[in-house]
Amino acid sequence: MQRDSIRKAFDQQAASYDEQWRRLGPLNQALHLLMGSVFSDLPADARFLCVGAGTGAELRFLAGQFPQWRFTVVEPSPAMLEVCHDHADKAGFAERCSFHEGYLESLADSADFHGASALLVSQFILERETRIGFFRDIARRLRPGGMLVSSDLSFDTKSPAYEKLLETWFRMMRGADDISPGELERIRTAYGRDVAVLPPAEVEKMIESGGFQPPTPFYQAGLIRGWYAARSPQGH
Ligand SMILES: C[S@@+](CC[C@H](N)C(=O)[O-])C[C@H]1O[C@@H](n2cnc3c(N)ncnc32)[C@H](O)[C@@H]1O
Repeated sequence: MQRDSIRKAFDQQAASYDEQWRRLGPLNQALHLLMGSVFSDLPADARFLCVGAGTGAELRFLAGQFPQWRFTVVEPSPAMLEVCHDHADKAGFAERCSFHEGYLESLADSADFHGASALLVSQFILERETRIGFFRDIARRLRPGGMLVSSDLSFDTKSPAYEKLLETWFRMMRGADDISPGELERIRTAYGRDVAVLPPAEVEKMIESGGFQPPTPFYQAGLIRGWYAARSPQGH
């Protein structure tokens, strides 16, 4: 999908996004729990870059876990960002956040962040070089040794296991037992067209090419895989 279509798609989902994810909460809880450990070495007053924050699920977790951190929240969908901002207001940490509506390249290039997250974001970038550029844009904003946590849908889509797992995955996403073969095929096509579901080794190569040390996989649930990686010494 092109940027405009992605932004519009998330603008449309913004009001219902949290409700859709409520049932899938255990997936996020496990990811966030582990992510908290990855970032536990960062300074108590760290500056943190949250890329593609959506309605702010990971932001709320991190703001609660690390009460002195300051966040720069980057999100291209105005409607998603508004929901995210509302949550931060209600939870009382909005004054620790700077909200940036747009993409990363329009954010000042300051190499100032101790850590960054991009959860379920890079998968929407279909072109390999652009996706590497996305990671590079994060790396160049991190301090030396700064840590990234990234997660994406990732699997070897050519393996026989993918067919089986995809069906299980969609049953879970839909909260339904029966998915017709036609429906499964439509979903499979949409995943193949709109989301770059790539084998873990390929995503790892792209993160590394974007200026990070070899990523460590730390989370896998269904199709979602998570990695952490420190900025490489040369940065980008
Ligand atoms: C699936 S949502 C995930 C939101 C949040 N990270 C979470 O885990 O709940 C993906 C978000 O990334 C944003 N996004 C898509 N492409 C992006 C890009 N190139 N840069 C930054 N954000 C992007 C979308 O607008 C959307 O809010």
